[in-house]
Amino acid sequence: MTARPDDPAPNPHATEAQVQAALTDNKLAQVLYHDWEAETYDDKWSISYDERCIEYARGRFDAVVPDAPLPYERALELGCGTGFFLLNLMQGGVAKSGSVTDLSPGMVKVATRNGKNLGLDVDGRVADAETIPYDDDTFDLVVGHAVLHHIPDVELALKECLRVLKPGGRFVFAGEPTTIGNIYARRLGQATWKVTTEITKLPFLKDWRRPQEELDESSRAAALEAVVDLHTFDPTDLEAIASRVGAVEVRAKTEEFAAALWGWPVRTFEAAVPDSKLTMRYRLAQYKAWLGLSKLDEKVLRHVVPRQFFYNVMITGVKPGAAAK
Ligand SMILES: C[S@@+](CC[C@H](N)C(=O)[O-])C[C@H]1O[C@@H](n2cnc3c(N)ncnc32)[C@H](O)[C@@H]1O
Repeated sequence: MTARPDDPAPNPHATEAQVQAALTDNKLAQVLYHDWEAETYDDKWSISYDERCIEYARGRFDAVVPDAPLPYERALELGCGTGFFLLNLMQGGVAKSGSVTDLSPGMVKVATRNGKNLGLDVDGRVADAETIPYDDDTFDLVVGHAVLHHIPDVELALKECLRVLKPGGRFVFAGEPTTIGNIYARRLGQATWKVTTEITKLPFLKDWRRPQEELDESSRAAALEAVVDLHTFDPTDLEAIASRVGAVEVRAKTEEFAAALWGWPVRTFEAAVPDSKLTMRYRLAQYKAWLGLSKLDEKVLRHVVPRQFFYNVMITGVKPGAAAK
């Protein structure tokens, strides 16, 4: 594991002047927001590097590429965050070595640290997905999770992916919000937040109310999130972008309909009440409910509900040429 000494340092405490500048500079907003989140990100999103998340990451990969020639030799992750997707894919046997990259130095620091702690063959580098700092034909696989919707020019980023992939190499992006899914997720989230924060004003529910300053901070974070979330995707449009940059074997797949209708209110409720109220038993029950609903989505609803209604979209494509392996 290495982190490059010439990379910029993390900046978890932005000054007021920097925050103001970020209002008109989206890339700066991405860096400040994600540097601020980096050290607490795994806890906030219940990210782990054990069986649960390995299975989840591998499940997303297999859902869109069921017949991949595993393991790939060298993989790159764009917008790696704390390394959730690639580190868990590597643990799940998808790639032997990897480079975790992100626009946020704070995220690269945490991702490389996580890779080291897991004993994986991983290096890290600060990188903008629109100008990937690697040579042509370097990687066998490029992956990303929940990153495309943050990138101003998605077409340019996919073009860059094809450039750094070896001929026959594949890209896989998962965890992107669909346009329709984002509408119902946001509305459900906002309604749940309002109901929970109002109801917990009742005196006999005061133990369920988070301190006002924490609620204010969550609201401010939500406002910043609206600045850094740039896109939602229609699966057919996303396939068209990937084909336009020259990828072949392009395929989008969507997931989570019932699971998202259930999951968004639950996640928002959890963010609105004190952590101490959410017992291990409660969390396990929610996770099991989410797994059950995901199964319902995959086995039944996928066949009757149009794919653009599902919340998550994944996209894959291949660089034309000889097979990577
Ligand atoms: C929602 S987080 C997802 C992190 C991680 N992939 C995960 O799923 O947990 C999005 C990440 O994309 C990064 N990002 C935003 N714009 C980027 C860009 N232009 N190039 C590379 N990374 C970017 C952010 O810094 C952030 O770490």
